[in-house]
Amino acid sequence: MISEKLQRAREFEDQYMHFLDEQRPRFHVTGGIGWINDPNGFSVYKGEYHLFFQYHPYSTHWGPMHWGHVKTRDFIRWERLPVALAPDSDMDRDGCFSGSAIELPDGRHLLMYTGVCKVRRADGAVEEIQNQCIAVGDGVNYEKYEKNPVLDVSDLPEGGSELDFRDPKLWREDGCYWSVMSNLSPDGSADILLYRSQDALKWEFVKKIESCHNEYGRMWECPEFFPLDGKQVLLTCPMEMAPIGLEFHSGFGTLCLIGTYDHKKQEFTRESVQAIDYGLDFYATQTVETTDGRVVMVAWMQNWATSTSQSRGEQLFGSLTLPRELSIRDGRLIQNPVRELDNYHGRRTSYENVLVESEANLAGISGRVLDMTLSIRPADENGYRAFRLRLAKDGEHVAVIRYKPGRNTLRIDRTRSGGRFDIVHVRDFLVRPQDGALKLRVVMDRYSVELFVNDGEQAATFRLYSPESAQSISFEAEGGAVLLDVEKFELDV
Ligand code: FRU
Repeated sequence: MISEKLQRAREFEDQYMHFLDEQRPRFHVTGGIGWINDPNGFSVYKGEYHLFFQYHPYSTHWGPMHWGHVKTRDFIRWERLPVALAPDSDMDRDGCFSGSAIELPDGRHLLMYTGVCKVRRADGAVEEIQNQCIAVGDGVNYEKYEKNPVLDVSDLPEGGSELDFRDPKLWREDGCYWSVMSNLSPDGSADILLYRSQDALKWEFVKKIESCHNEYGRMWECPEFFPLDGKQVLLTCPMEMAPIGLEFHSGFGTLCLIGTYDHKKQEFTRESVQAIDYGLDFYATQTVETTDGRVVMVAWMQNWATSTSQSRGEQLFGSLTLPRELSIRDGRLIQNPVRELDNYHGRRTSYENVLVESEANLAGISGRVLDMTLSIRPADENGYRAFRLRLAKDGEHVAVIRYKPGRNTLRIDRTRSGGRFDIVHVRDFLVRPQDGALKLRVVMDRYSVELFVNDGEQAATFRLYSPESAQSISFEAEGGAVLLDVEKFELDV
């Protein structure tokens, strides 16, 4: 049965989304209209990849959360499907928060998400309770389970808070369903809780598999827990991070823990800690295991701290990142654009061994929808002080990526990229060059830059606010010269 609320959201989207097609990026997921945040329910269903997202179609601001819905066969071209969930039941009347999805053996598609409802306490205070709910469907329409919630305060370990208990991530292993989710812990930070079920409907608490202990932020959002290249990975997004060197900045962060997992004892042993993305606009990851065995990750290409940067009259806010293939190399998380992007490579322009000193353009190297790889190395033994790649440039605008080999730092700076709000525009992070040589891959899709350093060893994502007509790209070396190789593809999507 389709509720009035869901029907209304579907009709609203249907009525207006076509007017916004001119504003959309070419191959990144956006909502039909209005606001989106986290990706949800990234899953294989009947051979296609389904992806949902936190959605408020009625304005460009966060509001009562629905689940928007798209699907794809190749992660580049997406087909929009009707809104999947609306906050229309007792258990989720104030929001269908983030969650995940899985295909059931009987051919149905199951969604597990956080239902939010406000309750008035005896003392008059209004609090928001979070619990876990299920909806089952056919890839288009979903029916909420009559026994929702399937997990509530009674399923929490001692001291856990029902006010922050959210973002279940499902998987199937050894004939059981498993789910991890995050919970505000008694020490004011976060625990990652593990639950088990035989049928994905009736769940039992197993144990805490990780805890923040106030070390990396406080509450952790959107946990992801999966095997990768012989290791086990826990991704999560901490709130209220304190900065740690140039690895973690303050505010809403991203955290990747790599370790091992004892499947019998359900014990995760942490071995290394790193940020997931070093840019400005990246939060709330979701992964899927593809039909050919890759782990592909997507995230919200925004951040809560920067999400107020909206000009008057905007009708579309928020998009998801380009899906990225994950792997582990030398104990670090490696991210690269999905290989399907190569199928959309159009006109190629390339140069080898270009000597770069003062700022220069190269014929054919410009644009805002492209996939470009640069290799830079010192031109001689004297080295160089800095290298600058300028993107999305015109007389007024520019986004700068600056590398300083002496300090091994990369800086992204979009101060002059059209933003008119007092949000963070600059980020520095450490990279690992080899003998002053660095490889950068830049994927641009009109209003975004996704940067991959040294074959995916690090990624940095940021949005641009400049007009698409700012297309120029230039190269500059300071305090010496570099030799540059460039290969640029236009993207025909
Ligand atoms: C992360 C998050 C999730 C929550 C959702 C609400 O960005 O805060 O923890 O489920 O967004 O929209």
